[in-house]
Amino acid sequence: MYKILLISAVLTIAAACSSSKKVVPSQPDLVNVNAAYPDLTLADFNQGKILYGEKCVVCHALKSPKSLSPERWPSMVADMTNKANKKEMRIDPTQEALILKYLVTMSTPGK
Ligand code: HEC
Repeated sequence: MYKILLISAVLTIAAACSSSKKVVPSQPDLVNVNAAYPDLTLADFNQGKILYGEKCVVCHALKSPKSLSPERWPSMVADMTNKANKKEMRIDPTQEALILKYLVTMSTPGK
């Protein structure tokens, strides 16, 4: 029930903001958020999504979050953060954590 209320609240907000360019999670995104990290806020989820789009596209096209299992993303993101930081494209630990949460969320099957 809570999930349905949350989804309809977000959809209402999404409809209200549809003229602006805000990133709004889709309904399937929200199901995944609940499955992977029950405490993850939508603000953090969206921030992770934005950072992923900004930071992880510098050297190659964005990989689909579903291209790796949730278990494999932590070492991959750590690896890629090292690569980025060696090339002076700073990804700080807070940003790394948000990107990882976004990718794990999106690769975890919804409940
Ligand atoms: C400094 C350049 C650079 C940045 C920034 C970067 N990558 Fe990569 N990425 C690479 C290179 C080079 C490879 C090739 C394989 C390897 O060296 O591991 C790669 C490979 C990958 C692969 C494996 C692709 C495959 O098909 O096997 C994934 C997934 C990936 N990157 C995700 C990310 C994510 C997520 C981020 C952001 C946190 C990111 N990358 C940022 C350089 C980068």
